[in-house]
Amino acid sequence: MGTIEILGRVPLQGNVVIQGSKNAALPILAATILTEDTSYIKNCPRIADVCGMIRLLEEIGCRVRRRSDGIETDSSGVGKKVIRLDSEAVTGMRSSLCLLGALIGKCREVVMEYPGGCVIGARPIDMHIRALEQMGVSFVLENGCLRASTDDLHGAQISLPKVSVGATENVILAAVAAEGETLIRGAAREPEVVALCRFLSACGARIGGIGTDCLTVCGGKKLYGREYTIPADRIVAGTYLFACIGTGGTVFLEKAPCREMEAVIETAVYMGGKIWTSESGMYVQGPVRPFSVPLIRTAPYPGFPTDLQSAALAAETLGDGETVIEETIFENRFRIVGELQKMGACIVQESDRCVRVTGVPYLMGCPVTAAELRGGAALVTAGLMARGKTKVSGCSYIERGYENICRDFRDLGARVVSE
Ligand code: UD1
Repeated sequence: MGTIEILGRVPLQGNVVIQGSKNAALPILAATILTEDTSYIKNCPRIADVCGMIRLLEEIGCRVRRRSDGIETDSSGVGKKVIRLDSEAVTGMRSSLCLLGALIGKCREVVMEYPGGCVIGARPIDMHIRALEQMGVSFVLENGCLRASTDDLHGAQISLPKVSVGATENVILAAVAAEGETLIRGAAREPEVVALCRFLSACGARIGGIGTDCLTVCGGKKLYGREYTIPADRIVAGTYLFACIGTGGTVFLEKAPCREMEAVIETAVYMGGKIWTSESGMYVQGPVRPFSVPLIRTAPYPGFPTDLQSAALAAETLGDGETVIEETIFENRFRIVGELQKMGACIVQESDRCVRVTGVPYLMGCPVTAAELRGGAALVTAGLMARGKTKVSGCSYIERGYENICRDFRDLGARVVSE
């Protein structure tokens, strides 16, 4: 899928089922290599990043089979030899990084290219490295590749200097295979970290403090393959929520994980959305025109997620006043501003971390280009809100995280086609 064409100004109407979470599925698939048998991971989203992770698992020696409602992995063939990962799936996908903790745990040595991912900031990995060093891992750089090795993987007391989902996950993955106890202070509390801990616990790991910022992992327990169902994707649900707010629609987001979306729901309610939540999902009625929330500031969970900042920004372009959006997590997450301005949005970029949006009565469709995953989905949302035709190119980024954004929006009555 290279481009998406949207004929806008149709309020979204209907029902859509929210796919499984990308950010939960990827580390859990990586974690399956720590077991010595078969795991069955249900509700994995059919997205490019999951295909990339499957390719990497196969390279490592895992047998992977797609079944109708999930992915079966058999890790019995993953040896204890040194693993070398230098394929495109590593350089193109940030979450390939969680294989670092899992492979250190399994093989004690791994060589991998510097992981890629969306171009939304510098995205250093210093915290991953420092924490694993505390656990007895040594790192050397060899021709652009990172060689990590240890002959004494042990528990440690780790204080993460800032909240990092990836570093927390990597430490957990190494810690379940390490000798002794690991204490992680300053751990990320994101629901995807919780999902990883629940999966590992089901496999036999002993993890305390799940869902808090202080985790204890009692390492060295033998892990067994298990069946696990990936929770619904709060970011996909939030994207469709803001699309409904921006178009003044009425939708039911089936399976939306409402309990994980409090900050998002609060923002959407401020914007004039009427929202009813239940165990089965979220019913949303959008306003005629969104209200402008004075300040939206991204923050680690349970704050407003950085991954939904672009979707909220797109919806606020039609707000009835002024909104300041502050990005506190990544420094390069306003790449859609220029594209939204082409569509008639009134946005002043005050710094690389802050924009001021003054709502306009309407956007005008035009050709725009996606430069990353969440920004790309937000441009499609803007296209749904705009008069006339919007053509979004660069849509392969969107496939990294959304199973079929065109199908989902068509199910909600939108006029959307992809090429
Ligand atoms: C994960 C999510 C991503 C989400 C992000 C923040 C996955 C696959 N991706 O990314 O969708 O936007 O969490 O919720 O789960 N940092 C350092 N040094 C490090 C590691 C991180 O300085 O070693 C910084 C980052 O540059 C960033 C902040 O810490 O400013 C948070 O990053 P982190 O939580 O690690 O993001 P990811 O795990 O890459």
